[in-house]
Amino acid sequence: MTERIEVMISEEEVNAKIRELAEQISHDYAGKTVHLITILKGGVFFAAELAKRLTVPVTIDFMSVSSYGSGTISSGVVRMVKDLDEPIEDLDVLVVEDVIDSGRTLKYLLDNLGTRKPASLRLCTLLDKPTRRVTDIKVDYTGFRIPDDFVVGYGLDFDQKYRNLPYIGVISFDD
Ligand code: IMP
Ligand code: MG
Repeated sequence: MTERIEVMISEEEVNAKIRELAEQISHDYAGKTVHLITILKGGVFFAAELAKRLTVPVTIDFMSVSSYGSGTISSGVVRMVKDLDEPIEDLDVLVVEDVIDSGRTLKYLLDNLGTRKPASLRLCTLLDKPTRRVTDIKVDYTGFRIPDDFVVGYGLDFDQKYRNLPYIGVISFDD
């Protein structure tokens, strides 16, 4: 089976969008410290680029949840693989994710984080596939709304590969 990758969103477009999001977030969090919570592994690439462009003070923590096995089909089962290192009580938390697909992962995560009494809790995603949503979640900052394609790059993987691509690509398979 051959994997083929076609550019959907170029490196330049992604960078420009991240700069735009960072300006908006810096404006909205003026006078505060934003506590970024990033979802391993996919969210890390976007979060690092976003964090570098924020002009407000930033702290960062990581967690890992899993809803996908290998391949491109959602299992629908969300499992906590690694919890945060620090409590988030009274912090202004911004969850940074690579993509929201069904929304199951984020629904689980936001419900979980909400019980820990943060001062505020918002969500920022690089990519959103709104047509795939099966849960009701509010996204505060969205980079790009994309169709229901399986994409890779900028943190997103297929079978753990292609996370390092500096653009968003659509993967297809021929045999
Ligand atoms: P959800 O729980 O269905 O919203 O799935 C979210 C997770 O599924 C993301 O954090 C990704 O790890 C993975 N995912 C969803 N769509 C894609 C995609 O197009 N490419 C790579 N991973 C994806
Ligand atoms: Mg992910």
